[in-house]
Amino acid sequence: MAVLSLRRVLLLVGAAASSLVSAQTIVTEDGNVVAADEATVAPAASVIDNAASDPAALQLTDAVIANLTELQLSNISLFAFKSDSTVARALSSARSSSSAATCKVFPGDAAYPSRLIWAVLDLLTGGALIETVPIGAVCYPKSGVYNATKCADILAHWTESDTHAADPTSVMSPLFQGETCMPAAGASNASCTLGGFPSYAVRIANVAQVQLAVNFARNSGVRLVVKNTGHDFLGKSCGAGALSIWTHHLKTIEFVKSVKTPTYEGPAFRLGAGVEVHELYLAANKYNVTAVGGECRGVGVAGGYTAGGGHSPLSSKIGMGADQVLSIDVVLPNGRFVTADESNQADLFWALRGGGGGTFGVVTGMTVKVHPQMHFSGVNFNVVSGPGTNVSEALFWKAAYAYWRKMPEYADKGTYGYSTIFPRGAPGSGYSWSMLPWLVPGMALADFKAMVAPLFAEWKALGLEVTPLWFEYDNFYDTWSKGNFPLEGVANSNLRTGSRLFPASVWKDSTKLAALLDAIKSIVVEGSALIQYNINGKAPAGTPASATNTHWRDAVWYTIIGSAWSAGVPEAEVKAVNVKITDDWMGRLRPFGPGGYGNEGDVMEPDFGGAFFGTNYDLLLKIKRSVDPDDVFWAPTAVGSDRWQVSGQRDWLTLQTGKLCKA
Ligand SMILES: Cc1cc2nc3c(=O)[nH]c(=O)nc-3n(C[C@H](O)[C@H](O)[C@H](O)COP(=O)(O)OP(=O)(O)OC[C@H]3O[C@@H](n4cnc5c(N)ncnc54)[C@H](O)[C@@H]3O)c2cc1C
Ligand SMILES: *[C@@H]1O[C@H](CO)[C@@H](O)[C@H](O)[C@H]1NC(C)=O
Ligand SMILES: *[C@@H]1O[C@H](CO)[C@@H](O)[C@H](O)[C@H]1NC(C)=O
Ligand SMILES: *[C@@H]1O[C@H](CO)[C@@H](O)[C@H](O)[C@H]1NC(C)=O
Ligand SMILES: *[C@@H]1O[C@H](CO)[C@@H](O)[C@H](O)[C@H]1NC(C)=O
Ligand SMILES: *[C@@H]1O[C@H](CO)[C@@H](O)[C@H](O)[C@H]1NC(C)=O
Ligand SMILES: *[C@@H]1O[C@H](CO)[C@@H](O)[C@H](O)[C@H]1NC(C)=O
Repeated sequence: MAVLSLRRVLLLVGAAASSLVSAQTIVTEDGNVVAADEATVAPAASVIDNAASDPAALQLTDAVIANLTELQLSNISLFAFKSDSTVARALSSARSSSSAATCKVFPGDAAYPSRLIWAVLDLLTGGALIETVPIGAVCYPKSGVYNATKCADILAHWTESDTHAADPTSVMSPLFQGETCMPAAGASNASCTLGGFPSYAVRIANVAQVQLAVNFARNSGVRLVVKNTGHDFLGKSCGAGALSIWTHHLKTIEFVKSVKTPTYEGPAFRLGAGVEVHELYLAANKYNVTAVGGECRGVGVAGGYTAGGGHSPLSSKIGMGADQVLSIDVVLPNGRFVTADESNQADLFWALRGGGGGTFGVVTGMTVKVHPQMHFSGVNFNVVSGPGTNVSEALFWKAAYAYWRKMPEYADKGTYGYSTIFPRGAPGSGYSWSMLPWLVPGMALADFKAMVAPLFAEWKALGLEVTPLWFEYDNFYDTWSKGNFPLEGVANSNLRTGSRLFPASVWKDSTKLAALLDAIKSIVVEGSALIQYNINGKAPAGTPASATNTHWRDAVWYTIIGSAWSAGVPEAEVKAVNVKITDDWMGRLRPFGPGGYGNEGDVMEPDFGGAFFGTNYDLLLKIKRSVDPDDVFWAPTAVGSDRWQVSGQRDWLTLQTGKLCKA
């Protein structure tokens, strides 16, 4: 079938304006109904180069906008760039700036775009617009999409990150969506609503689609969110009434033998925004290099991970995820596509490396350093106390304290020690501590054993014997994939977490250190889980300055605490858990560590600017105001986010279920 020209299709949409155009089919001049897909609809894009695998091959340009304008299609100004071009200026003269509005435009508002306008967005994006449906809707007989087989499948794979990453809107912290359509077997007549899920999503395959969506959100005043995998712990990748930019399918991984910047010359990967940790590690293994990513399999490397700093099993040796970045491709809030690096858009390059996701624009791809393959050695072990074990609670805590006291020493040697302590049940039933693992990149096993020996000897003297499972590999992929790292489950409901970074300076003051260890212990004794990382996030010499949270740079211990509640318990009980985490437990820890990790932080962190961005916050705010004066981008705890709030929220928990309004 011949590819229809953009002009022809749009004229038809224009002509059909009175009878609603379906987003899925179009009527040609000779009356044929054809599918509106990539093959039939020329998206509103200029072909910049012919490398079809590069999302930047298709871009929205002034010439495209000029063509659209010439068609005199009504509402086309909704897709124009911010008025820094003559074309857009002429177009938007009639429109009042959305920045003056008190709230983002919400479904049901008179100013909310009509279905026809959404259909035009669909056509311009080449059929990439999705009218969203909650992932759990297939479990609800009244939803219109009920399918028991699909429901069973979602339930069977609910705790796997792929289930949520592959869905246009599903997120792995359903709490923030409002849990309005949770999948359940044999669900009843209960209603299934969108809650905090966006109303529309654009499935991104090229830069032009991102530009169209950003321009549309800015010009229409509709809330914009960015979803990559949906791993966010704070509800930053969902939002009621929003248009979502879904970057998951930008999967390019290209190995470049040598990239030269003012501070680096060597091999690199060009990564699409949707590349996940396991895909990066597999590619690194193929090219015999080591790449920096997180410990779990599904986090989006070039999405929220790097934007938030990104801690890695390699960080104590070669820095944070953000320290690996050589250049970043990004669509700005004004709709323009730029590449930021040390020499171009330097402020933006600084801000995008650690200044947080969904704040300064939509990253479509980035180039990151890779390192030579390395040798790894390490250990896994478990310490379990309580009934049925030989480990008393007193012994358990003595062992933990002995380990904690040595954190700066281990971090200095390049350690990554990832472990969890969980209460085994009600008070008195003991604790389970799992090392998942403790390793040092580049260290021989004999040296690793020698490093650990004094701790194990100290434990033995206390009466504790562990069974160490030592390992040694000559590359990272085997270290990561052969069972020494856990496969993490996701999408727990009714769970809240908070995080803290503790600097090495605490260890120089024995009184302060003892108080910190007592505080941590007290929180676990009261029922919190403890996820802990013995890690130091300093930048290697020669790394260009970035916005990575300054608190990572001198940290040697990173901790996540959290607690859950049962579905259906009274609101007072839910409030008690939430207040306890933010005020009581985090309150006990803040005196020892003013910083938290924003990617895994407490959404109610009182001074989120200082905690999640450190001394970088003021400059980040300046850059945010200059790059995004209209607040096209907003996310909870993002830089400058205190100017807006989600309406209808309780003061102890912000969900994404309401209209976004000026604070
Ligand atoms: C099981 C699990 C394990 C984890 N392990 C680690 C770890 O080892 N190390 C670590 O540092 N962190 C880890 N994290 C935290 C993780 O870094 C953050 O959740 C991160 O924000 C995820 O990014 P995403 O793009 O995958 O997720 P999303 O939820 O899709 O996005 C997160 C944020 O980034 C924004 N964003 C996403 N893509 C883009 C884009 N292309 N352009 C602009 N903004 C974008 C979103 O708007 C949102 O604000 C883990 C989280 C989970 C749930
Ligand atoms: C603009 O329209 C003309 C005529 O249809 C076409 O030849 C040209 O390629 C279009 N330009 C862009 C950038 O879309
Ligand atoms: C779309 O165009 C119509 C007709 O010109 C106008 O009445 C309406 O306000 C426009 N809608 C938006 C969201 O700009
Ligand atoms: C339900 O989903 C299954 C699996 O995707 C599919 O094979 C089947 O056709 C669906 N049933 C209906 C009635 O749509
Ligand atoms: C669902 O509604 C129907 C009719 O409204 C009722 O007969 C049935 O008992 C309800 N089922 C459940 C599980 O509530
Ligand atoms: C892989 O890299 C290591 C370290 O740089 C090198 O010694 C080895 O020869 C490489 N192997 C291959 C197959 O390229
Ligand atoms: C407790 O210690 C004894 C003696 O060392 C040993 O035989 C037994 O297996 C231990 N029990 C557990 C549960 O570790």
